[in-house]
Amino acid sequence: MNIFTSPAAPRTAHHTAAGGAARPAPRRASHPRRLRGMAALVAALLVGGPVLAADTTPAEQLKRWTVEAGAPASAERGKVFFNSRHGGEWSCASCHNTPPTTEGKHPNTGKVIPTLAPSFNAKTFTDVAKADKWFRRNCNDVLKRECTAPEKADVMAYLINLK
Ligand code: HEC
Repeated sequence: MNIFTSPAAPRTAHHTAAGGAARPAPRRASHPRRLRGMAALVAALLVGGPVLAADTTPAEQLKRWTVEAGAPASAERGKVFFNSRHGGEWSCASCHNTPPTTEGKHPNTGKVIPTLAPSFNAKTFTDVAKADKWFRRNCNDVLKRECTAPEKADVMAYLINLK
């Protein structure tokens, strides 16, 4: 079926027969309706998109950093790392709480920060790009440098161990 076929077919014959004046009868109604349908479809696709971003698990992230570190991770070391200020103003716990099993709050903006420990928030560490972005950003805020693979592995072990 041709989707561009207008459902109301008869046009010229009817009008010209009536008065002779070939009144152009633009069928305005059908077009906006079709466009609105299209817009709804596009919106649905856009809204549906980010849901597909779930491409990893906390366990996979622990494995990834442990392999890169080349040594087993330590939840105990991760806990110390997470709660230390590393010579600066903030620790990871400043924003994520200690233990990070509840929603955090940004100390400057007051913005709510979703719970970090995966057993308490099924959404954390399900998106590689997101985890990488925030590890980079937060480590820079706290340590003035990126975290190393062993540090990330230890933090992951600590977070996964929180039940
Ligand atoms: C100044 C506040 C702040 C500090 C300090 C902070 N974080 Fe975060 N962190 C955030 C915010 C905000 C998010 C994004 C939360 C969201 O939008 O889901 C986040 C998210 C994360 C994520 C992403 C989790 C995921 O779902 O993949 C990781 C990993 C993380 N933080 C680790 C750390 C570590 C490790 C430290 C300490 C070195 C730290 N954070 C310190 C504010 C902070």
